[in-house]
Amino acid sequence: MGIDIREATGADVGALSATGRRLFIQAYGNISGAEDLASHVEEYFGESAVAAEFAKPDVQYLLAMDKHEIAGFMKIRQSAIPDCVPASKAIEVQQLYVCARHQRKGIGRLLTDRAVPIAQQGGFEGLWLSVWQDADWAVEFYRAYGYQVMGTTDFRLGQSRYTDFLMWLPLDPVS
Ligand SMILES: CC(C)(COP(=O)(O)OP(=O)(O)OC[C@H]1O[C@@H](n2cnc3c(N)ncnc32)[C@H](O)[C@@H]1OP(=O)(O)O)[C@@H](O)C(=O)NCCC(=O)NCCS
Repeated sequence: MGIDIREATGADVGALSATGRRLFIQAYGNISGAEDLASHVEEYFGESAVAAEFAKPDVQYLLAMDKHEIAGFMKIRQSAIPDCVPASKAIEVQQLYVCARHQRKGIGRLLTDRAVPIAQQGGFEGLWLSVWQDADWAVEFYRAYGYQVMGTTDFRLGQSRYTDFLMWLPLDPVS
C-alpha cells in the first residue's frame, strides 16, 4: 500500500489544518448547515487551532502519509474521561479521518495500531472516543476494531445538537 505512519511535527501543522478541513467537510458536510459547518471547521481545523493543539504536551497527531500527501490522520489526547468509561487513565481518540479515496484500505486500522502501543506504554488502560451515532461507517469501523458502545453524549455543531456514542477499547497492560 505504501502508507507510512508517523507522528506529526510542527512542519505538518499547515497541511494538517488544510487536510482536516477538507476531510471533515467530505465526511459531514451534508449533515449540517453551511454556517454551523464553517464555524466548527474553523474551531477544530483552523491553522491557529491546530497549532495550539499541537503545542500541548498531552496531544499527539499521527499521520498516514502517502508519499508527501496526508491520506489520513488521528489526534489522540489526554482529557476528562466520561463516567461510562471504566478507566481512571485512558486516551481519547478525538479525531480520526481517512481521505475518501483511501478509505477501506486499512489506514484507519494502521493509525489505531500505532495509537495502541502509545497508550499501553504510557500506562493507559485503553482508548475511548465519541462518534455520531448515525455515522454507521465509523461506528462499524470502531466495532470491527474491538471498541464497545458504553453510553451516549450530546455533541454540538454550531447551533445544532447531535447524539454521539461513547465507545471504549480496553487494552492489555504491557509487562
Ligand atoms: C471511519 C474511518 C476512519 C475508517 O477508516 P478506513 O481506513 O476506511 O478503515 P479500514 O480500511 O482500516 O477498515 C477496517 C475495518 O473497519 C470496518 N469498516 C471500515 N469502513 C467501514 C464502512 N464504511 N462500513 C462498514 N465497515 C467498515 C471493516 O470491518 C474494515 O475491514 P474490511 O475492509 O477488511 O472489511 C473512515 O471511514 C473515515 O475517515 N470516515 C470519515 C471520517 C469519520 O467519520 N471519522 C470518524 C469520526 S469519529
